[in-house]
Amino acid sequence: MQRKKSIEWPIADEGLISALKGVIDNNRWSLSGYWTGQDSYNAKFEKEFAKKNKVSYCVTVSSGSTALICALEALGIGEGDQVIVPALSWVATATAVLQVNAEPVLVDVCEQNYCIDPEKIESAITDRTKAIIAVHLCGAMAQMDRIMEIANKYNLKVIEDNAQTHFSMWKDKYAGTIADIGTFSFQQGKILTCGEGGAVVTDDYELYKKIQQLRCDGRAYVEETAKKYGFMEIEALGEIHGTNYNLSEFQAAILLHNMEKIDEQNELRQKNVEYLVEKLSEIDGIKIVKPYENNSYRTYYGYIIPFDKSKFNNMNAKEVIERLSRKLNIGSFYIHPLYPAIHKSPLFCPWTNKRYLKDVAKTEEFWRNQSHPVAESANENVIFLLHSLLLSGTAFIDD
Ligand SMILES: Cc1ncc(COP(=O)(O)O)c(C=O)c1O
Repeated sequence: MQRKKSIEWPIADEGLISALKGVIDNNRWSLSGYWTGQDSYNAKFEKEFAKKNKVSYCVTVSSGSTALICALEALGIGEGDQVIVPALSWVATATAVLQVNAEPVLVDVCEQNYCIDPEKIESAITDRTKAIIAVHLCGAMAQMDRIMEIANKYNLKVIEDNAQTHFSMWKDKYAGTIADIGTFSFQQGKILTCGEGGAVVTDDYELYKKIQQLRCDGRAYVEETAKKYGFMEIEALGEIHGTNYNLSEFQAAILLHNMEKIDEQNELRQKNVEYLVEKLSEIDGIKIVKPYENNSYRTYYGYIIPFDKSKFNNMNAKEVIERLSRKLNIGSFYIHPLYPAIHKSPLFCPWTNKRYLKDVAKTEEFWRNQSHPVAESANENVIFLLHSLLLSGTAFIDD
């Protein structure tokens, strides 16, 4: 396949080079490096990202997966606990729960927007349930009013897995800032990216302090941190056992730079989605996904297109995509079926890995025999288009 620059993601511009040069000139490459006379790029990004999301605190981490692990551990979730997760998400949502030795309990998603079905949550709650992870999928948000209501009724914590939904809004609040903790991914495909990376946001100072220590081997910024040339800025606290999930200074600089362009890009995606929806509405058998009413603003990690196979010669999503991919000359990074349901995903096989507790990894039969029909249908009947396709012109959308 030939390179097709008009749809490629991410977009590297001249400003990116000078952002990286800033790190080189500063000669501090890591949060755990030494203070050179200016705040670290990590600290600057944390401040900017928190401000833009109107939330009190942000902690950068190495990925969306480690963001989820920090969120779960900060909330004190571990062995013996159950966490409710949607049966349709990237596998990392459920894997993160296993990583802290807790048990993921899958709940089906709803047809409205393929996010967790709030009406199916209560029947999955047991006396071991400690939290719900709400995944906002492809820019559309889960039904946060109902989820928070159920969590309050049963005294559960809520994490918003916001890997895919930067700057979408529920009423007047940004995605990730409604629940106890929100987590983000900045992996290459995401609308805000630095290759690999993540962040955790919260309004709770105690959680913020814990998340910092979980990220950085028990070290954190402290108020009286000495910002002195040649000294480390983060100090050993050791209130909770952590590990190294740091984001490098290069990655933080890229995020700061890319954040300058994100509003403009989101507006363009929005405009092109309107055009796409207009065109798709003319095709019999295609469903237009409508966000919940309170999802007052949405961004697009991807545009998803559910369709009725019977109107398309009974082809499934994989077969339709094979044709589209050839016609449009684009690969599977840009167009693919929506994920397999977690319990059916070949990537979800915790019984093959000795590090997980047997009580939570369970057996192949335990996972594969579960039934979550809406989540299971997505892989067959829903096409995913990466957001960068929405940044190219309408000619591409016409194709
Ligand atoms: C919903 C969801 N959660 C978690 C993750 C994990 O993020 P990362 O790949 O940065 O570890 C992803 C990544 O795509 C995701 O889509």
